[in-house]
Amino acid sequence: MKQNVGTEEAIKRWDSFADTYSKKHTEQGDLHKEVFLNPTLFSLMGNIKNKKVLDAGCGEGYLSRMFTKSGANVTAVDYSPRMIEIAKERTSHDLLIDYKQGNCEELNTLEDKSFNLIVSNMVIQDLANYEKAFQEMYRLLADGGSFIFSILHPCFVTPECGWERTDNGEKLHWNVDKYFYEGAYEQSLGDKKIYCSSIEH
Ligand SMILES: C[S@@+](CC[C@H](N)C(=O)[O-])C[C@H]1O[C@@H](n2cnc3c(N)ncnc32)[C@H](O)[C@@H]1O
Repeated sequence: MKQNVGTEEAIKRWDSFADTYSKKHTEQGDLHKEVFLNPTLFSLMGNIKNKKVLDAGCGEGYLSRMFTKSGANVTAVDYSPRMIEIAKERTSHDLLIDYKQGNCEELNTLEDKSFNLIVSNMVIQDLANYEKAFQEMYRLLADGGSFIFSILHPCFVTPECGWERTDNGEKLHWNVDKYFYEGAYEQSLGDKKIYCSSIEH
């Protein structure tokens, strides 16, 4: 059965998790981002110098700062007020990033066709209504623009996934249960729980 949770409840969880989440991020993100995601994203983006780029669901902003250092004009939105606060704290004054608190499902303060590129890194799976967000991204893209997004793969994260361990705690294997589940589920991260969704195909 497909389940959903509201955007407001989901973002409350992200907001209370923002400090813990951000602590694990350097200026290249966390290890997975540094090793896997960033090289892939940058190879898909090509040259972004002077392009108008939206970082949709920017979190603590490492990617926005990387884009700006590559010469792009960056707007960055996140619905969590704390994430935006942290992103601003981490951004030096010479990096001119326009941070805004906003819901990717409804970005009506941003004008139609105002971006050449929209990147949403590991966000879409956290949205209550990703179809609405896709419509917004389409509205915001200039003609010929690109939308690049990354999401979790159910190979790694599903409801009830986790390490199977021996009695003395040694790892045996990673359980991937409910691979075909569609809908929202809680994912434990440190001492907090956030919501993820498996998107129906
Ligand atoms: C896994 S983090 C990724 C953050 C960032 N893109 C990165 O790569 O570090 C997901 C982010 O999506 C944000 N988010 C969740 N729902 C959102 C929504 N409806 N609108 C905007 N941001 C949202 C969360 O606050 C969180 O910062």
